[in-house]
Amino acid sequence: MKKVIVVGASGVLGGAVAAGLDKDHDVIRASRNGADLAVDASNVEQLDAAFKKVGPIDGLVVCIGHVPFEPFESVNLDAFAAGIMNKFMHQANLVRAALPYLNNNAAVVLTSGILADEPLIGSSCAAAANGALHSFVMALSGELAGRVRVNVVSPSVVEASVEGYGNFFDGFEATSMDSLVKGYRRCLAGPFTGRVLKI
Ligand SMILES: NC(=O)c1ccc[n+]([C@@H]2O[C@H](COP(=O)([O-])OP(=O)(O)OC[C@H]3O[C@@H](n4cnc5c(N)ncnc54)[C@H](OP(=O)(O)O)[C@@H]3O)[C@@H](O)[C@H]2O)c1
Repeated sequence: MKKVIVVGASGVLGGAVAAGLDKDHDVIRASRNGADLAVDASNVEQLDAAFKKVGPIDGLVVCIGHVPFEPFESVNLDAFAAGIMNKFMHQANLVRAALPYLNNNAAVVLTSGILADEPLIGSSCAAAANGALHSFVMALSGELAGRVRVNVVSPSVVEASVEGYGNFFDGFEATSMDSLVKGYRRCLAGPFTGRVLKI
């Protein structure tokens, strides 16, 4: 049975993905207050110790990231920078720390989102972070070719979050929770690498 760490497993996406993997994976639920593993993606020093505790893994799924949704003209630029850090760098921190513990042909699956491709008023930070993730995965998959597969899932607003976002995603087709889980499962199963899976 494949051993997979899901970071963000207490969240909307991570919770659904962890539940969707449970039946045939050894799932380790991680986050700052993780049920199985406490990891803070912003704390590079702490990450190695956390991964060491788990040992070799076959998959790393990351479903974290928080960005401000505000027009660029008025958004506080420190908040904008923190958003890029939170959504992009924290995922990169996790990949870097996990590398020594990833088995041969293990899979890394990151999370971006539809705002990389579809503009909304207030989406510039999300778009920048998601775009960074897409380019990062493209380049990193080449560096790690033959050793670790690296992909990113880019969902629309997910069904479980539609209400919480109010009218922000007005007119968008929501991603069903079933499609969401299938997207991450496809990336874990392979055989592809370097892809942005738009679901
Ligand atoms: N919701 C949507 O409709 C949707 C659609 C497309 C893309 N996305 C993207 O998917 C990702 C997850 O979204 P979500 O809606 O599932 O968020 P969420 O419900 O707020 O969940 C966030 C998860 O991340 C964990 N977390 C936060 N900061 C962390 C840190 N520094 N280190 C480790 N874990 C941390 C949280 O747990 P702790 O508090 O215990 O750390 C929680 O488990 C985001 O990048 C979001 O932009 C979401």
